[in-house]
Amino acid sequence: MPADDGSPPATITPYPDGPYLVRGDFALTDQQGNELPLERRTIALCRCGKSRMRPFCDGTHKLIGFKAPSGPEPWPGA
Ligand code: FES
Repeated sequence: MPADDGSPPATITPYPDGPYLVRGDFALTDQQGNELPLERRTIALCRCGKSRMRPFCDGTHKLIGFKAPSGPEPWPGA
């Protein structure tokens, strides 16, 4: 669980054509609320859906040519 020690909140950064980088003080849980063990304070979560070790990125996004901007994509029809 995140500590309440005044440390900055976690940040989530979508990397261009790559994963979500999660940094800081956070907990990663499954749908039942069970905390998943983490070995690092910074993790990469798969955004392309093709990782073989989801929810973590394994680099497969590069092999499949995944494309996505770091910022939001325009709404369809906007
Ligand atoms: S974003 Fe890296 S494997 Fe999916």
